[in-house]
Amino acid sequence: MARKKITVVGAGNVGATTAQRLVEKEIGDVVLVDIVQDMPQGKALDILESGPVYGYDTRITGANGYEETRDSDIVVVTSGVARKPGMSRDDLLKINAAIVKGVVENVVKSSPTAILIIVSNPLDAMTYIAHKVSRFPKNRIIGMAGVLDAARFSTFIAMELNVSVENIHAFVLGGHGDTMVPSTRYTTVAGVSVEELIPKQKLEAIVKRTRDGGAEIVNLLKTGSAFYAPSAAVVEMVEAILKDKKKILPCAALCEGEYGINGLFVGVPVKLGARGIEQIFEIKLNAEESAAIKRSADAVKTLCEQVDKILSC
Ligand code: NAI
Ligand code: 2OP
Repeated sequence: MARKKITVVGAGNVGATTAQRLVEKEIGDVVLVDIVQDMPQGKALDILESGPVYGYDTRITGANGYEETRDSDIVVVTSGVARKPGMSRDDLLKINAAIVKGVVENVVKSSPTAILIIVSNPLDAMTYIAHKVSRFPKNRIIGMAGVLDAARFSTFIAMELNVSVENIHAFVLGGHGDTMVPSTRYTTVAGVSVEELIPKQKLEAIVKRTRDGGAEIVNLLKTGSAFYAPSAAVVEMVEAILKDKKKILPCAALCEGEYGINGLFVGVPVKLGARGIEQIFEIKLNAEESAAIKRSADAVKTLCEQVDKILSC
């Protein structure tokens, strides 16, 4: 079987850690791209030289252009600026819009059949840009956020109940921002609704901590944002696609009527397989959940309206 090729654009914290995790799991050969001269080449060589000790044969190279990335199966876009304390993800919009637009233009020329996984923030707006610029079909444009947000939600529930994280199926909807919608009704612990296991007030505090999960790490790191859990989330998505696992994961997908949302990328449960997003699942929401996802989609819409202005300049 031919080896799969994965390009990771942006060799910073998220990009380099993603590349490291991908080669360690032997999911595919990796090309790591960054605009900083020599840096992606240095990180790639360093990761490659870990192979004999760790016992993997995956290849990894670094590049400052797109020639080496030609015909990638998947391209992960992590290029851009990360948050500093006091900044919201939305503060990154203008600068990252220009970066993501330029990167996607290059990716379209070099890997026209690739599946794109967008990571740069603000996530839902950057995924929208990738779609506008690439004109790729909607199944091949996916935003990473829900897997990370659900992982945080699961972590806090496992800590509270002192049970294995593997027993928890956390459910998160909506945009990757302050309006995200962690659903307690659909989150289960070994099949039992978390609402039956954790008192309401405590659960509300966990939901709030999940929503603020990105900021909590930014405030601790002080010089950037989270990258270990985000890279783990990207790898789960890449693996689901390249192994055609048909895994149901929360991802930012182009909604065309689902959940009453039209023309926006918002976090919803999707089936990830060889064709990328193979299905969006529309589950029944109660009035409170419907209002919450509408609020979240409205916040994404406001950002996308700014994106439309930037792209038309
Ligand atoms: P970082 O600053 O460590 O790395 C970003 C890298 O992008 C830098 O090495 C920079 O040189 C590179 N870059 C900038 N312009 C480029 C271009 N035109 N082409 C290629 N490379 C370019 O930042 P980090 O921590 O890796 O975060 C990256 C992005 O991912 C940020 O926007 C951050 O907010 C976002 N993020 C999103 C998450 C999510 O859940 N969707 C989770 C974590 C981070
Ligand atoms: C996070 O949630 C920065 O969006 C990123 O950690």
